[in-house]
Amino acid sequence: MTQTLHRIYFKSAARMAEAPSGRIDLIVTSPPYPMIEMWDEILAGQGGGIRGALATGKGFAAFEAMHRVLDAVWDEAYRALKPGGFACINIGDATRTIGGEFALYPNHARILSKMVQIGFTPLPEILWRKQTNAPNKFMGSGMLPAGAYVTLEHEFILILRKGGKREFSTPDEKAGRRRGAFFWEERNQWFSDVWMDLKGVTQTLFDAKTRQRSGAFPFELPYRLINMYSTVGDLVLDPFAGIGTTMLAAMAAARNSVGYELDPGVQAQILAGVDQLAPFANERINRRLAGHVRFIAEREPPKGGYKHVNAHYGFPVITSQEKELLLNALESVRHNGKDTIEAVHSDRPQTDFETTGGKTGSRPPMDRKTVGRKTVDGKTVDGKTVGGKLGRPKNAEKPAEVQLSLPD
Ligand SMILES: C[S@@+](CC[C@H](N)C(=O)[O-])C[C@H]1O[C@@H](n2cnc3c(N)ncnc32)[C@H](O)[C@@H]1O
Repeated sequence: MTQTLHRIYFKSAARMAEAPSGRIDLIVTSPPYPMIEMWDEILAGQGGGIRGALATGKGFAAFEAMHRVLDAVWDEAYRALKPGGFACINIGDATRTIGGEFALYPNHARILSKMVQIGFTPLPEILWRKQTNAPNKFMGSGMLPAGAYVTLEHEFILILRKGGKREFSTPDEKAGRRRGAFFWEERNQWFSDVWMDLKGVTQTLFDAKTRQRSGAFPFELPYRLINMYSTVGDLVLDPFAGIGTTMLAAMAAARNSVGYELDPGVQAQILAGVDQLAPFANERINRRLAGHVRFIAEREPPKGGYKHVNAHYGFPVITSQEKELLLNALESVRHNGKDTIEAVHSDRPQTDFETTGGKTGSRPPMDRKTVGRKTVDGKTVDGKTVGGKLGRPKNAEKPAEVQLSLPD
């Protein structure tokens, strides 16, 4: 059994006194987008000059003043992050007509340059391609040249690191890293620099209206990033928590989390998300396992059969790095009705990962005979006889207990 803790602070992240310096392993966040009207008020309430600049038609002065509000949070984020820790920032640019002039306000570029100035190392970023089906999405002069504007159909996920590569030096750290591995085929999809497939990957935890009103990103976005850039038991921070999507994804991925949110009015939504989380998270986890089994079953096996078998599930994997991968099922999540959430994660490998919804179809093959090397090529796997129901082999390494120490 692994336990994780999650704490939300309803205050500004411009001062995160509860997060000691160098304690956070990963930041996944999405700030209010400067120059997008829905965020004008919350930004104007935190920084001087915003209302005046907007009222007098000074678009770029307002843009700069809004970013200065965010800058204070980025400074704090850098302080709180561990050396080697990643920061992933989802941000979209804005287009707006101010004082009669239509312009692009390049939020991603402004944030990126601030992050580099603070000391972050920028890494290749992700373009999140959003499908917009709005019939009137064309802006400007219609069919007449030369005054029409291209529509913004993408957002960015900026990826930055504090300093050089993270060290995994102790045996526990190394074991945690191997256990937190992702599948080879997931790597191929997740590490593409254009994400076009977020819609439809997961059912949503909140209804579309709630997500739209709160500017929430889809669950899959932080869930992927957390799996890509942290290990089990790490501490994930979202300084602009909103309705808590990053924290919920951290719970699903057996990481600890801390969130800051200026608006206490979203508390009920965050807790409602927590109450609904366990079946939702387990469905996503099971879909990853079922997807892998299907991937192996549909793939032409290598000559001589698969060399590597996962120690917990008994299915073949493509690389030796996936041999200890374990996806902890979420056993329970409890909150105190206010700001603290405890999650319990199972360390026992799932033996049945039939999915409960979505497009996965029928139950995946669950027997090594079906997917393992034995039936594929009629031989044995890693010198062991294969066959029988899946489950943790007797000699499988017990996952390390995760130490909890969240800031109070
Ligand atoms: C784009 S939303 C984040 C949505 C979030 N990713 C989700 O999925 O729910 C930005 C959030 O930042 C909050 N916010 C604005 N300024 C803040 C500050 N200084 N500190 C903490 N939260 C802030 C807003 O209230 C808003 O909920």
